[in-house]
Amino acid sequence: MRTQIKNGTVVTASDTFPADVWLENGKVAALVAHGTELGTADHTVDAAGKYVMPGGIDAHTHMDLPFGGTTSSDDFYTGTVAAAHGGTTTIVDFAIQSKGGSMRAGLDTWFGKAEGKAAIDYGFHMIMTEANPSALEEMAGMIREGITSFKMFMAYPGVFLVDDQQIFRAMQRAGELGGLITMHAEIGLPIDVMVQQALAKGHRAPVYHALTRPEVAEATGTERAIALAEMAGVPVYMVHLSAQRALERVCEARDRGLPTYAETCPQYLFCSEDDLRGVPGDEWQGAGYVCTPPLRPKHHHDHLWRGLRNYDLQVVATDHCPFCMKDQKELGKNDFSKIPNGMPGVETRHYLLWEGVVQGKISMNRFVEITSTAPAKIFGMYPKKGSIAVGADADVLVWDPKREKILGKDTLHMRVDYSPFEGRKVVGAPAAVFSRGELVVENDVWVANRQQGRGQFIRRGTFSL
Ligand code: URP
Ligand code: ZN
Ligand code: ZN
Repeated sequence: MRTQIKNGTVVTASDTFPADVWLENGKVAALVAHGTELGTADHTVDAAGKYVMPGGIDAHTHMDLPFGGTTSSDDFYTGTVAAAHGGTTTIVDFAIQSKGGSMRAGLDTWFGKAEGKAAIDYGFHMIMTEANPSALEEMAGMIREGITSFKMFMAYPGVFLVDDQQIFRAMQRAGELGGLITMHAEIGLPIDVMVQQALAKGHRAPVYHALTRPEVAEATGTERAIALAEMAGVPVYMVHLSAQRALERVCEARDRGLPTYAETCPQYLFCSEDDLRGVPGDEWQGAGYVCTPPLRPKHHHDHLWRGLRNYDLQVVATDHCPFCMKDQKELGKNDFSKIPNGMPGVETRHYLLWEGVVQGKISMNRFVEITSTAPAKIFGMYPKKGSIAVGADADVLVWDPKREKILGKDTLHMRVDYSPFEGRKVVGAPAAVFSRGELVVENDVWVANRQQGRGQFIRRGTFSL
């Protein structure tokens, strides 16, 4: 199958130039000046007036995740179809080593969830709930399987929290093996005390999720994770960074030359603590905005945008972890601490971030870098993924900067009964999305013959930045 994407403007993390792009056998085969004769194409897409970019890579999703007494409402089928509609062609999800269990068993469980279901390519990080000698030993096997990054939590005591000694040992081991430790860096033990105290005072509403997880808890966790990584002499990647002071810790570390990396998420750039307060007369609506770390007051937005512009933040991932309001978020109707944590987002990342381009907050090249190229490089998928280059996987997003869309639960494809962005008009949308050379979405319609199971597992390389 030979496809020609003609008359478009190619945008990569570094360059913007006019070119026709040819796709063949699932790969990018050629980039040539507009109109260059290269024989016949089986299929042609006219991209005049549009941008041709690498497909998005979402390095932080939770499909089919058992969490907070329920399971995230998108599975690998529905979630990846939604991702593709929004311009994302690869996700990296999280397998979990259950406490007392092996990583192997956790990985097999997550292979079982994704295989035969995912519509686009996928990889896994491994959530480590223990770093005992056998787990440290097992990390080598995970890396051989292409699971080259590990998430550890300073939060969620009794569920995911691991102590500093375990984090430090895992970091040292990752360093030996070429793996990367990623950190959820809120200090969970005092947070739990604050939660109990708030409940004892009768505070039940969703906004108390934020009021019991203050910014300082994330800043301190971030500083501690960076210190542990410095002592271990390894890189560290902060997931879902939400706040100014946590970012300042990252900036300080990077200014000292440490290999500290961080991602933020659209919800921390576009939503705020005000959303958690709900609407007048209905504070419960705030439950749809409960995620962890919590949404912060609006003034944090500018700091995070500046971090993206200045290369202190490298990635925007979504932390897509949807729960329906009905039956799921409702588990915490009378107790904010029982509201399952997470927001839907795998489909809306490009729509929202493009507003940042239009408003001059980031360039188009930076847009491509934070949504695709940087996660590909940091997580061992480059140059197979993350660029429009000859020989790369033909994961291509043709972006129409003029196409309009109203975001909402009925116009998006995620399996969740609300949208945090209901009614928001965006300008700029995918016109065509290719996954390994196959046109999967065109003008918001799934067009490929196959959906379920067409995604392939990505065996990722070790950390090499
Ligand atoms: O609220 C969130 N972020 N849910 C998913 C779990 C996590 O910590 O990433
Ligand atoms: Zn987390
Ligand atoms: Zn997450």
